[in-house]
Amino acid sequence: MRNQTVLITGASSGIGQGIAIGFGKQGANVVINYHSDKEGAQATLDQVVAAGGKGFIHEANVGDEQEVAGMFKKAIEEFGSIDVVINNAGIQKDSAFSEMTFDQWNKVISTNLSGYFLCAREAIKHFLSKEQAGAAENAIGNIIFISSVHDIIPWAGHVNYASSKGGILMLMKSLALEVAPKKIRVNGISPGAIATDINDDVWKDEEKKKELLKLIPYQRIGLPEDIAKVAIFLASNESDYITGTTIYVDGGMTLYPGFVDNG
Ligand code: BGC
Repeated sequence: MRNQTVLITGASSGIGQGIAIGFGKQGANVVINYHSDKEGAQATLDQVVAAGGKGFIHEANVGDEQEVAGMFKKAIEEFGSIDVVINNAGIQKDSAFSEMTFDQWNKVISTNLSGYFLCAREAIKHFLSKEQAGAAENAIGNIIFISSVHDIIPWAGHVNYASSKGGILMLMKSLALEVAPKKIRVNGISPGAIATDINDDVWKDEEKKKELLKLIPYQRIGLPEDIAKVAIFLASNESDYITGTTIYVDGGMTLYPGFVDNG
């Protein structure tokens, strides 16, 4: 990954921050996107640089077409080209379905699904503009969609979130099919419960954590590094023959843990 340029959305905290630092350790150029948490983004950059990488922070709402276009333009100006785009920015706005507001629905779909569309489209346009498109030995560009186990596990009380993640799965696969002949790879990573701010109400509470562990056969909550390692693999030529696939990084959460001794 040395001197490769990687753009990561939602990299001011959590999984995105962990992925950015992982690529920093590899000596990559890292474009750290954030929406509101500038301090978090700066902390990510500091750790990327301390780890041996380069980069800059860039504020953009991934659900805004103009802002996304501006971010890609800046990244290409700064580093000449982009090799890897990691769609990661995601939010939850939880609510019982009958009480879910249209705003809660729209905000989640806009960031989690439309945001992935906008960034993937800019990425594809850029990759196709590369001279070797279609003729290179290895991929000329890689897109990684950070989704969730809730792209296949239904989630009551989180219908907007699960719908966005289910949408990501087909966005990823259909796009992978469309651009494979151009030597562009598109894959997904679906994390299970990873200890970040998005779910700290659960893993910081002993009782709730005990309940959560019942859903994780491997008996530990994941860490952002668990996701970063897989993202690096999917971004590298080590995975050159993999496209249109999702890797579940979930300690077995998708194995129907409730069936362990009954059924
Ligand atoms: C959610 C977390 C949740 C995990 C497992 C993730 O996609 O963002 O809040 O802990 O799925 O249910």
